[in-house]
Amino acid sequence: MSTTIPDSGTSDSIVIRTATPADYAAIAELTVDAYEADGHLADENGYRETLADVAGRASAGEILVAAEGPDVLGAVLFMAQPGSAYSEIARSGEAEFRMLAVAPKAQRRGIGERLVRACLDRARAAGAQAVVISARDFIQGPLRLYARLGFVRIPERDWSPIPGVQLVALKYDLTASPSNEDNSAPPAAHAPVSPPS
Ligand SMILES: CC(C)(COP(=O)(O)OP(=O)(O)OC[C@H]1O[C@@H](n2cnc3c(N)ncnc32)[C@H](O)[C@@H]1OP(=O)(O)O)[C@@H](O)C(=O)NCCC(=O)NCCS
Repeated sequence: MSTTIPDSGTSDSIVIRTATPADYAAIAELTVDAYEADGHLADENGYRETLADVAGRASAGEILVAAEGPDVLGAVLFMAQPGSAYSEIARSGEAEFRMLAVAPKAQRRGIGERLVRACLDRARAAGAQAVVISARDFIQGPLRLYARLGFVRIPERDWSPIPGVQLVALKYDLTASPSNEDNSAPPAAHAPVSPPS
């Protein structure tokens, strides 16, 4: 089933839908390209192979894509509940998404925001109370995107998967925003996201 999200921007031809195996090669390519372009793969730690293994993560949740006609321009792995091998910081009642990526040529059109909003919608529909994510501490673009949508830092859950890679934990409280139209305002209870110093 596909969902066209009628928010603002210049991406009206973009459709957010569940990926099929026919999309996996394109998802692998755009995800590696996007992470590479933003400097995530500078440390040789095997993450490139993990990002490229789309079939391997397909059973962990729902892979969503942003498609424009035949072109797959963005993707994300959404997990409605914790428990899979890909789940990192989600606890009971929390959804999580990972490996959000938009092809470098298609960035800054609002596609990343649409994919995040689609995850929030699915989490809400699944009855989750919150959506949690981890982000590299040096990437200011994604942190701005998450802050704009209402994610807040939860520093007590920051963590490091391997030496030299520091991740900040972020949370979107679904109990504080009942609808997708309403999720631009950050909940007041936590400090807003700001790029780490
Ligand atoms: C993070 C990422 C997914 C964002 O994708 P995106 O499609 O560019 O995201 P958006 O277009 O929704 O928002 C990005 C910026 O473009 C701006 N933008 C959105 N629509 C726009 C438009 N029509 N024209 C110009 N700018 C626009 C947004 O305001 C935002 O600006 P900001 O950086 O000042 O906050 C992408 O940069 C990426 O793949 N990065 C590498 C992988 C990564 O870091 N993933 C996240 C891991 S936590």
